Amino acid sequence: MRCPHCGAVLKDEKILQLHLKVCPKREKVESPRDESPKMEIPVESPKDGGKYEVFYPKPDPYFLVPEDVKIELEIAEKLSQKHHINLLVTGQPGGGKTTLALQFAARYNRPCVVVDFGILQEPQELFHTTYLVSEGGSSRTDIRESGFVRGLETERCVVVLDELNRPENERVLNVLLPFLDGRGGAYIDYLRRKVTVAPQVVFIATLNEGAMFCGVTTVDTALRDRFREIYMPYLPPDYEVKVLMDRTGIDEKIAVCLATFAYKVRTSISERKVSTRQLITAAENYVAGDSLWRAVSTAIGHHNNPAWRQQVMEILSFQLPEKELVEWRKSLSQRGNYVRL
Ligand SMILES: Nc1ncnc2c1ncn2[C@@H]1O[C@H](COP(=O)(O)OP(=O)(O)OP(=O)(O)O)[C@@H](O)[C@H]1O
Ligand SMILES: [Mg+2]
Repeated sequence: MRCPHCGAVLKDEKILQLHLKVCPKREKVESPRDESPKMEIPVESPKDGGKYEVFYPKPDPYFLVPEDVKIELEIAEKLSQKHHINLLVTGQPGGGKTTLALQFAARYNRPCVVVDFGILQEPQELFHTTYLVSEGGSSRTDIRESGFVRGLETERCVVVLDELNRPENERVLNVLLPFLDGRGGAYIDYLRRKVTVAPQVVFIATLNEGAMFCGVTTVDTALRDRFREIYMPYLPPDYEVKVLMDRTGIDEKIAVCLATFAYKVRTSISERKVSTRQLITAAENYVAGDSLWRAVSTAIGHHNNPAWRQQVMEILSFQLPEKELVEWRKSLSQRGNYVRL
């Protein structure tokens, strides 16, 4: 017995009916269950610019990577034509890990799906979502397959396993194992069918690890062993200047000041750095009319380690242009006015 949509061979009528509920190829109009006005059921339409789960990321002309990383990605692309490839992107927080995964998809014109592991609580959530459908005064539970399943069954898809070590329940990681090795798939009880990784699919996981991150779990050796690792370092100051100018329109003098400040923090304080993301936030604030010291202060936040913040602000004070420094000193010595919002 075959599914009329995807052609999958099914044992009997009962299995067929179950399969029809979740068949990825079923069309929206064919199932009255999909017609609930409140529920948008994504279809496999990767060329839609991101409206659905599977999408084509736009190329980002301002994203810079070390040459080594570019070579690693070229090799991954080449090898993925022979067998599945899994990449693990590590590095500093706010240093471009997630962007790297999306830009790999953009560079090779691949469809992409992002699975955010931080919101997964139980293993079954990796495969499907349940939702309530109201019909004529009664309601029932329906299920739809997840972006993870849609992505891995889409040829050439880049499946981004973002923040891999942040699921609520570590068992979420165990169910990944058969998808990341030679088995290339597994029978999933929740869906009552086999889920198979499509040709040339590339999994790219990202994670932040170390004592300073809370809510993270350890990625054990067996899982880690299935990945090739790519390290994404922070940009050197001269390249960070260029990125800040291109991304925010800030002038060169201020961009140099911000990038040098971040570089000094990164090379003199080991505990916590200032990220590219924070620098972009500071530059945006400045362009929007903030003073430079306040723009940086807002971007780095009132961290729960005041000693760290004080050290960082001290480093900033050596980088500020004279005019900015005078303004900062003035604000420290004056009691601020309170005004209506
Ligand atoms: N090398 C880079 N070139 C250009 N932009 C960068 C670079 N690195 C980071 N950025 C910018 O910094 C911001 C943060 O990047 P992204 O979210 O990819 O970092 P991340 O490492 O995934 O962060 P997190 O650790 O919080 O997950 C984005 O706006 C990104 O475009
Ligand atoms: Mg990220």
